[in-house]
Amino acid sequence: MDVRGTVTPFSTLIRTASHQQHTEAENSTFMSDLLGGRLGVDAYARYTEQLWFVYRALEGAAEALREDPVAGPFVQPELFRTAELERDLAHLRGAGWRTAVAPLPATAAYAARVEECARTWPAGYVAHHYTRYLGDLSGGQIIRDKAERTWGFARKGDGVRFYVFEHIPNPAAFKRAYRELLDRVDADDLEKQRIIDECRRAFDFNGAVFRQLADEFPLSA
Ligand code: HEM
Repeated sequence: MDVRGTVTPFSTLIRTASHQQHTEAENSTFMSDLLGGRLGVDAYARYTEQLWFVYRALEGAAEALREDPVAGPFVQPELFRTAELERDLAHLRGAGWRTAVAPLPATAAYAARVEECARTWPAGYVAHHYTRYLGDLSGGQIIRDKAERTWGFARKGDGVRFYVFEHIPNPAAFKRAYRELLDRVDADDLEKQRIIDECRRAFDFNGAVFRQLADEFPLSA
């Protein structure tokens, strides 16, 4: 409760709780270099590969969670990104991309945790779902714009399809509805706190992936 006696919506709590880490993610070396146009397309392709492992974990679990009272409402196929990532990777790496793709250790740990939550703790899965998809609908658009300009991808075309939600014509409205889903999540206060903690963990995983990418693509500039 706040001073006026109103209960803070869960969507506000989770956003506020991850705000600091969000700023750190935006300002991470890898993201700054990417958005600063200082990285080659190879770094972008390597990053896209990491996303593929994460979304495969998120979406491979989705069907089994569809009827779950907590995670089920979040399973919305218009969000799915695996097919788009696969088109992007075919463009970036060529048709044989699957034979060479490998997760960084941080990515493997991240994907394993998503899968574990999906199997054993659907509310934890919601934390991972929120951290990725709401971010993609928001800051993802900034990354797409930069990627198009830096490496010359066609606007919303192959290479950046991951960032294009063709079945979500109004992202702002979708995000509002998503926040309402969060506010109605079927969890008590203790469980909500655990979801928030898992969201922080999700941000940590993303930070670790960025650090390993930065190690792999150190900048000369
Ligand atoms: C340079 C990289 C990034 C930029 C420029 C960026 C930018 C943004 C912006 C502008 C918003 C606000 C959208 C709004 O209020 O509707 C946002 C929201 C969000 N971002 Fe990012 N972001 C970045 C990286 C990330 C990363 C790495 C993650 C986590 C994996 C993330 C997760 C989120 C989430 C979960 C939200 C929704 C917050 C909420 O309203 O509840 N972002 N981002």
